[in-house]
Amino acid sequence: MPPRVARGRLACGLWFCGRALFVAGLPLAGDSAFAGLRAGPWLQQPTATSVIVMWETAELTTGRVRYGSVQPLEREATDGLVDTLHEVKLTGLAPGSACFYVTISCTLDGRTIETPVAAFVAAPAPGAPVAFAVVGDTQDQPDVWERVAERVNAERPAFLIHCGDIVGDGLDPREWREEFFAPARELLAHVPFLAVLGNHELDSPLYYRYVANPAPEHRCSFRYGDVEFFLIDSERPLDEGSEQHGWLDGALAASQAPWKVVVVHRPPWSSDLDDYGDARRTRPAEGDPCTRPVIPLLERRGVDVLFCGHVHDYERTWPIRAGRVDEERGVVYIQTGGAGGYGERHAPTRSWFTAHVRAGHHFLLVNILGGTFDLKAYDDEGRLFDHWVRRKTLPAPALAPRLAEAPLRPRLLERHPHPHRQD
Ligand SMILES: [Fe+2]
Repeated sequence: MPPRVARGRLACGLWFCGRALFVAGLPLAGDSAFAGLRAGPWLQQPTATSVIVMWETAELTTGRVRYGSVQPLEREATDGLVDTLHEVKLTGLAPGSACFYVTISCTLDGRTIETPVAAFVAAPAPGAPVAFAVVGDTQDQPDVWERVAERVNAERPAFLIHCGDIVGDGLDPREWREEFFAPARELLAHVPFLAVLGNHELDSPLYYRYVANPAPEHRCSFRYGDVEFFLIDSERPLDEGSEQHGWLDGALAASQAPWKVVVVHRPPWSSDLDDYGDARRTRPAEGDPCTRPVIPLLERRGVDVLFCGHVHDYERTWPIRAGRVDEERGVVYIQTGGAGGYGERHAPTRSWFTAHVRAGHHFLLVNILGGTFDLKAYDDEGRLFDHWVRRKTLPAPALAPRLAEAPLRPRLLERHPHPHRQD
């Protein structure tokens, strides 16, 4: 795995900036409030008590984040670096509660860049509802990605899963900044995202610079409420005996999550017209040879859903197990490569494993509550075109949703006592 691009190591304990220029209200992409920033801010690694805030400046700066559950923001964190890329971890969050934040960058000559107030929600405790969006292949057409990102943001998901091919050329920093981050500035400032590597990322150091997955990054798992995600890399071997295959087997076996979801770029099942053989002339392969070796493993370990991209359209399979439809115990594969890239076409005839296909740009919204997994697919005009629900019986403790465990705010109560209270 390539290391992140080296960063400055000039730890800076002195904040040499004066009061910041602050522009209130939510900004538009390209707003002057972001002058001096190359990208961001964006959010990574959401947990019930922490999140990572990242942003990139055009020149060397110190970076800190002011944050809190109410304004004025009273907590502060820093990465202690002088650099152009900042990665600051906010801790002590209350599970399931909203958190406001601003990033503050100070240049070496004392100027300050302070971003407008944004907010996100910390991951909930197990048992609470979870809502997330899924996109893939945001590459190459930033106007489409901007339109999709606006639609995603309007749904207010708690976080976003990206199925890879974030940009068309992973080695080009301009594409990352101008074609991925800028069109989705509003969304990414409020909604943490987790991504897998696509083939267009080219395993670039820029992927590891901008995406901060849990170690070792190219593959990882993370738990969010009642769902655990397993992110794997289809540009590295997934065959039985490979490091990733072994890791995935062990991680799935150890998981106690009620819902298990795998995310990978290349589709194990696909009805594309010509990616896996020309369907106009012959019977093509049924999916990508890079990821098909994990199919038996997913079935054996009880994976519920796999999200993938790569092919630029939508396909949802029936639940599949042992090469046939198995409604009770099958894995459902959802190919969602439609958030930007140029469109592709399906084979002229329906595949036995296909439950729903749709050409065109789109995104997914998933709601999980207890034993219900509810998926909706929308096009880039916001029109619902697929709705699928999976239900299963869970052990009793996971059925009762809990309220967000936000603590009372004694300091706030002290400062603002009830006006009619006599004691
Ligand atoms: Fe791809």
